[in-house]
Amino acid sequence: MKIKNICCIGAGYVGGPTMAIIAQKCPHINVTVVDINEKRIAAWNDEDVNNIPIYEPGLSDIVKEARGRNLFFSTNVDEAIDNAEMIFISVNTPTKTYGIGKGMAADLKYIELCARQIARVSKTDKIVVEKSTLPVRTAEALKNILENTGNGVNFQILSNPEFLAEGTAVEDLLAPDRVLIGGDIDTVKGKDAVEALVNVYANWVSREHILTTNVWSSELSKLTANAFLAQRVSSINAMSELCEKTGADVNEVAKAVGMDSRIGAKFLQSSVGFGGSCFQKDILNLVYIAKSFGLNEVADYWEQVIILNDHQKRRFAANIVKSLFNTVSGKKIAILGWAFKKDTNDTRESAAIYVSDYLLNEQAEIVVYDPKVTAEQIYADLDYLGTRSDSENRSLVSVVSTAEEACKNSHAVAVLTEWDEFKELDWNEIYKNMLKPAFLFDGRRLLDKAELQSIGFDFFVIGN
Ligand code: UDX
Ligand code: UDX
Repeated sequence: MKIKNICCIGAGYVGGPTMAIIAQKCPHINVTVVDINEKRIAAWNDEDVNNIPIYEPGLSDIVKEARGRNLFFSTNVDEAIDNAEMIFISVNTPTKTYGIGKGMAADLKYIELCARQIARVSKTDKIVVEKSTLPVRTAEALKNILENTGNGVNFQILSNPEFLAEGTAVEDLLAPDRVLIGGDIDTVKGKDAVEALVNVYANWVSREHILTTNVWSSELSKLTANAFLAQRVSSINAMSELCEKTGADVNEVAKAVGMDSRIGAKFLQSSVGFGGSCFQKDILNLVYIAKSFGLNEVADYWEQVIILNDHQKRRFAANIVKSLFNTVSGKKIAILGWAFKKDTNDTRESAAIYVSDYLLNEQAEIVVYDPKVTAEQIYADLDYLGTRSDSENRSLVSVVSTAEEACKNSHAVAVLTEWDEFKELDWNEIYKNMLKPAFLFDGRRLLDKAELQSIGFDFFVIGN
């Protein structure tokens, strides 16, 4: 089957960049990204490409090149489904906040809505691709809905999990370690569908990097990869606490350990805790699946990764309170960085949210600066926790447009995102404008300890 039209449902952090690259690399394919969120689609269509809703280095140039040529953003979901031979589902699958599996299982309601819509609209055969990260065996449920509510057309379901990391989405998409495609490889139609998707990626990814498997292996591989990555961060963060007690330095330990080629150097950066939309959600999902099969030891093993991560965020915040003479009540604390990592405007599950919430419970006043996150988003993140009223959040938290302004007259500064620009700040000047003793807490191992101590800061860094 030759693919001429692709539709992607969900214009988020995954759907948007992935489709932009497909459009750029496959000028012979029309790619339409649809979303029910009108504001988001309008932003993707904004004349000024700098206003697209997702900040990713290099993305706006690619959108500029392909948009209007063979890349389209629309809210007309039915039309895009109808026109496409291949439909990617890239809608969000948040952790359930109600009912069975609350706080653990993935909420699949949007996935099911998409499947029902595809079934209703489709008048020709379709290949449906799971791009969202989903619990293993979701493809079976999709197939069931499509076949039982469809118009008698043939649906092939593929799993094609996305491994891009935010902040490096463009480079990850252009040169992926691997592209994973799971399909019904025991049937001719299934194999053809897999081949059709392989051919899309083969426009820029070499065949050796395109891996084909059965659907269940593909679905589970994505959860496994995220669990392993998160586990490495929790492992090094566990060591960071031990380093602080023993006089070892976690960066030195990480370097020594990472030089063992069996372990490898990546993902050993100790931090205030991992965030992002995937790690926590996917591990909770894995824990839930394991429990539902009665595999309690497996579930407990993976749950510990989350427990340690929560502990890391909490102990960082608790250390601020302890260092500031056991009270931050009425004290101004500057938070530098709100995004869950640098080079993204995404704040989902960011450590900054939880550290700030802890400090606000201790009656601190918070002043936030992040180069890419809006004030609206910061308030929305705090309001979502429901710890205090929306108006209290607005009276206790202010958002400013420079790091210097955030730090001015503060008792303490906490660096929570590793934005490059924080390294370049004039820390001498910042020190002068702070209350004394001036405390600086580096949750990202970003700053030079000796230099900042020589300026006069009471400096605390994770893992040293
Ligand atoms: C999402 C999931 O969070 C992740 O598990 C999965 O791996 C890929 O998809 P992301 O792109 O980061 O990741 O999510 P988000 O930025 O929230 O985008 C999802 C989009 O889907 C939103 O813009 C939302 O409006 C849209 N959507 C949701 C629909 O268009 N239709 C729906 O029924 C539900
Ligand atoms: C992750 C996976 O890397 C990606 O393959 C998958 O598709 C989605 O989930 P993402 O969440 O975008 O990507 O970013 P990632 O770079 O993995 O970072 C996740 C969190 O871990 C961030 O908060 C980051 O700061 C933190 N982290 C990462 C560390 O604290 N230390 C590290 O060594 C690496």
